[in-house]
Amino acid sequence: MGQKAKMVLEKDFKISEIDKRIYGSFLEHLGRAVYGGIYEPGHPQADENGFRQDVMEMVKELQVPIIRYPGGNFVSGYNWEDGVGPVEKRPRRLDLAWRTTETNEIGTNELMSWAKLVNAEVNMAVNLGTRGIDAARNLVEYCNHPGGSYYSDLRISHGYKEPHKIKTWCLGNEMDGPWQIGHKTADEYGRLALETAKAMKWIDPTIELVACGSSGRGMPTFADWEATVLDHTYDHVEFISLHQYYGNRDNDISNYLAMSVEMDDFIRSVISIADYIKAKKRGKKNINLSFDEWNVWYHSNESDKKIEPWSIAPSQLEDHYNFEDALLVGCMLITLLKHADRIKIACLAQLINVIAPIMTEENGPAWKQTIFYPYMHASVYGRGVSLKPIISSPKYDSKDFTDVPYLESAAVYNEENEQLTIFAVNRHLQEGLELECDIRNFDGYEVVEHIVLENDDLKQTNSAKGTPVAPHSNGNAVMENGLVSAVLPKLSWNVIRLAKRKSS
Ligand code: AHR
Repeated sequence: MGQKAKMVLEKDFKISEIDKRIYGSFLEHLGRAVYGGIYEPGHPQADENGFRQDVMEMVKELQVPIIRYPGGNFVSGYNWEDGVGPVEKRPRRLDLAWRTTETNEIGTNELMSWAKLVNAEVNMAVNLGTRGIDAARNLVEYCNHPGGSYYSDLRISHGYKEPHKIKTWCLGNEMDGPWQIGHKTADEYGRLALETAKAMKWIDPTIELVACGSSGRGMPTFADWEATVLDHTYDHVEFISLHQYYGNRDNDISNYLAMSVEMDDFIRSVISIADYIKAKKRGKKNINLSFDEWNVWYHSNESDKKIEPWSIAPSQLEDHYNFEDALLVGCMLITLLKHADRIKIACLAQLINVIAPIMTEENGPAWKQTIFYPYMHASVYGRGVSLKPIISSPKYDSKDFTDVPYLESAAVYNEENEQLTIFAVNRHLQEGLELECDIRNFDGYEVVEHIVLENDDLKQTNSAKGTPVAPHSNGNAVMENGLVSAVLPKLSWNVIRLAKRKSS
């Protein structure tokens, strides 16, 4: 007898409409993300601007709605002016964040053109490490002002007549981290973020701003940092950021798959802090969350120590993800969906080659990592309203966590297309989970597809030679008398897609 879990879904039990930006990603000037990733002139698949079309196709498959750029740690030493205007005049700079050489062949305008080709918005970060108010306000003027001023006319002279109209902006990156160029205390950063926010919005009042939260829940300044930063910036920003990476360092799968429970706790804590500041200010607006860096990151830590300093676009942070990583990424996506009322932006860090779902070979093919699939499924099928599922599941304890449910699940209702999608991970190591889901008021709905990602080898990776970790559609979900029944195989990611039967 396998384990059993139950779930109830009601159309009217809504968490929130999902902001599509929760399926965002991130492209930093780091390693082979930009050079050798999106851009490889001379590659057989490169277009006239040097952008790899095979990579663009994969990004489009993921339907990435927004891309954070240009960093990351990189942004804290970046002069945006280096990356605009005639390419042959752009300087080479030492990037102190990653100890590499930045050629500046790709900058703001090229990136905006590329983003347009993959149908994505850009979430632009400004440098609050080595620079500040002046560089940030000039960049907003350069990007968003129509014309008739120094920086907007400069953009036009660079061949970009129309403003880029960038809506979402990050006020620096991980300013709480001692590794950050221009690291600051919470008060120092809070004051700078406030004054920068004011100047940026005086130029374009329609923009939305993200203040830096902690670079992880484990930071010693966590919680105080958020409270202090929001105390300074509450009236002038819309978001506070969260960053978190996990790894199976102890090779303990039960504990590893439970790490999304900690992510959930992190999210709840940041919501509480944002609400505390709202109460303190007698404020009216909620500060929402931008989980703008999340992923698994640990496989490449050792090999990165051997990188030759000041090389150009070395292989850096190139984690090769295995099957168990895809399961945790699935749990993390479900966790984001469970907080769709407060998380309005999230970025899988990152997109290409650097801790990424898409990898490229120099002069060779692009290929899909294991984590590509849960990310794609959530982005493609997870548009609509996040429903509040009532779940009862057997539980287990692991090294760091208690009462971890074997079933991790979220559901998305797309009213317009009359579709209901259940995302589910079975964390059980040995047994299938018999799921019974009561979808009481979804009259006339039927199972369209039950996608499953499973593999007998937790350490199986994909490569340019093949993708042994890939989903199949042979799941056994059936619909009978308002109940969806399925066996979720041991250690599996599942997407059960339902839709209203078309009347003939
Ligand atoms: O995504 C890689 C790095 O992780 C980013 O540059 C930084 O913000 C974080 O520490």
